[in-house]
Amino acid sequence: MKSDILSLFFAEFCESHVHLDSMLSQVHPHQRPKVARYMSAFLRRPLTLAEHFNIPLAESPEAFWDLSFVKLKKHEGIHQLLSAIWQSGGEMPNEGGVQDFPPHIIAQWEKDWGKEATTQMARLLSQEPLTTIRAHRRTRDLETDEGTNWLESFEVKAREGYYSPVARVFKGFAPVQKTQLFTEGYYEIQDEGSQVMSMFALNSDLVAPMLSETPALARKKFTANPNLIQAFKSMGALTVIDACAGAGGKTLAMADLLQGQGRIYGYDIYEKKIQNLKRRAERAQERNIQGVVLERDPTAQIQSFYGKADRVLIDSPCTGLGVLRRNPDIKWNRKPLNAEVLAQQVSIDELQHTVVKNYAPLVKVGGEMTYGVCAFSKAETTDQVKWIQENFPDFQLKHQGFIGPHETDGFFMASFVRVK
Ligand SMILES: C[S@@+](CC[C@H](N)C(=O)[O-])C[C@H]1O[C@@H](n2cnc3c(N)ncnc32)[C@H](O)[C@@H]1O
Repeated sequence: MKSDILSLFFAEFCESHVHLDSMLSQVHPHQRPKVARYMSAFLRRPLTLAEHFNIPLAESPEAFWDLSFVKLKKHEGIHQLLSAIWQSGGEMPNEGGVQDFPPHIIAQWEKDWGKEATTQMARLLSQEPLTTIRAHRRTRDLETDEGTNWLESFEVKAREGYYSPVARVFKGFAPVQKTQLFTEGYYEIQDEGSQVMSMFALNSDLVAPMLSETPALARKKFTANPNLIQAFKSMGALTVIDACAGAGGKTLAMADLLQGQGRIYGYDIYEKKIQNLKRRAERAQERNIQGVVLERDPTAQIQSFYGKADRVLIDSPCTGLGVLRRNPDIKWNRKPLNAEVLAQQVSIDELQHTVVKNYAPLVKVGGEMTYGVCAFSKAETTDQVKWIQENFPDFQLKHQGFIGPHETDGFFMASFVRVK
């Protein structure tokens, strides 16, 4: 393996408009894990690593982040750095700082949340992400009489989740997608913050104590409570709509929490995502999930459901900065921050308003709507809550708050009850 594979990959990264994951899937399987690990480390902490390896990249972070992709692609220092990273054998800092983020992102965080939270956020979001799985209820049948733990089949040890009683968290690489148990649907890969949003959407009263008023600061010391599982089961047969379901991460989690009761509808405007959702539901043996592809104006398709849903989750399209650890290429901003925005030619703000306008009418009186995003800006979180309060007088705010980005990715969620 040659160390310049990283340089070639980076040059392609500068030109390509596809996601890092899709680019990595083109790399030869033998080289992929190392390329993925080192390239992600560079994209997460370029200036911290440059300092560590003593290779100057620019006079200042501002000057570095000002460089065009034409210049980055040919940047001598970057290619020296990539070579040093490759040869380091993984011995490098696992944490960066504000210098590793474009100044416009840092300025936005400081304006919204102040310097302390911003420093903390940059530190946390420049680290490696954890690998988290959500154990399906069927895994409980895998514990033998002798108390053997099904997780012992993994070489890497997993710890329990902080919040979700069914989360198991691996530090370091665990080949979680390559096991027979995964193929048979015994678990899904799902960040704990995403698991928390799925629980919140069903029962925000139970989950609200886990949330914080400010992102990144003040992580709540919380112990995942196994009794939560029983609490969800006793909610009975709810009608739940996951209005922006994507490939169904939260749809599946909600179906599992309700343990086969009720009916869960997963909506999205992209057929490919709904196909993926259906495939995953099949693998998990969830029979009460229905995936539906919607038009951009879904009124005709859904109006017969108006006022009928017990719970509606609107996991809205957003900038995605809460999951920067997993998708470090987002901050390099080779295209507008959100592909849906680009496709629909609207602002994120407009898109977030549209999804609430489209799906709020589905909630029945006494039912709940959850608005959620994997982002932190006030514009996408608390300002959206104010907008909902001003524009939807039939709904009352119940709970709102942030989770992460500590041991979880970063999410914001707010629940509203329909009062008339
Ligand atoms: C944040 S992602 C959802 C992630 C998903 N809930 C999960 O847990 O994996 C937002 C989703 O909203 C979808 N979307 C965008 N505009 C929409 C619309 N007008 N109606 C429904 N879904 C929409 C996108 O395709 C995307 O899958």
